[in-house]
Amino acid sequence: ISEISRVKNLDRVIIGKHEVEAWYFSPYPEEFGHADVVYICEFCFSYFISGKQLERHRYHCTLTHPPGNEIYRHEDLSFFEIDGRRQKQYCRNLCLVSKLFLDHKTLYYDVDPFLFYVMTVTDEYGCHVIGYFSKEKESLDNYNLACILTLPQYQRKGYGRALIAFSYELSKAEGKIGSPEKPLSDLGLLSYRAFWSETLIDKLVQFKGEVSIDELSQMTSFTTQDILHTLQSIDALKYYRGQHIICLNETVVENYYKSLKKKRRTIMPSALKWKPPH
Ligand code: COA
Ligand code: NA
Repeated sequence: ISEISRVKNLDRVIIGKHEVEAWYFSPYPEEFGHADVVYICEFCFSYFISGKQLERHRYHCTLTHPPGNEIYRHEDLSFFEIDGRRQKQYCRNLCLVSKLFLDHKTLYYDVDPFLFYVMTVTDEYGCHVIGYFSKEKESLDNYNLACILTLPQYQRKGYGRALIAFSYELSKAEGKIGSPEKPLSDLGLLSYRAFWSETLIDKLVQFKGEVSIDELSQMTSFTTQDILHTLQSIDALKYYRGQHIICLNETVVENYYKSLKKKRRTIMPSALKWKPPH
């Protein structure tokens, strides 16, 4: 845990065809901190000091997609479910990469209690990892997501939103409501706020008649607390003739219709082939 607050040790990493700058400390072996660049296999996330070593590794590494079950596929987007207990090395390697971009969470050396949902985009060379989230197998607090990452080279393209949407599709399939583990990073919070408000506005715009917070919670698998905070933040909770009502103002609705014009990756619930593990 003391390592978490240490200064950044790696400058740059090369993953697949992308070179990215590290943001934070990650507990790679010490000698990696002395290298200019660390080479990471984009399929198994093993790490090397030289391009030659990575090349040699690629000759033997036969992975072209994450290990585990492909539980979702729509167009070129897939999700793989990976059990931390069965794929320890893969999941530890993934955590090491994600720690490069996360400053506040404890890195889970113990990956056993988690499932990892890895999102990929497929081309003729294989399934390239865009990002992932982890989820506790049993969460006493009803968290449906522990850690989320979009690799920096793919950020701000709507993939984080797709990861979040997918985490709620899993909750819906489980018949549970859920919320991400706290605290969220600044970027995590921005992404969640955007997702929560868009989803709720979408439901409210389509919904005719009265709807309660509980009903919204059942439709979305959001907690009533997340719904209340979100509605407050978009100024949609009103007190009218002795009653609390939900009411969207014009600006909010206009912005919603504008946002529909953005081309977005959507998660198709029908493409999820998954039963909750028990
Ligand atoms: N600045 C402002 N708003 C941002 C933002 C940023 N840098 N990143 C995300 N948002 C908000 C925007 O509203 C965005 O929608 P828009 O692009 O249509 O305006 C929305 O979040 C969704 O963005 P999206 O492109 O889907 O997210 P992403 O793929 O960039 O991934 C994270 C978001 C949080 C997963 C990513 O920033 C990340 O991996 N960060 C490092 C790890 C981390 O902090 N994880 C969360 C820990 S709890
Ligand atoms: Na996190």
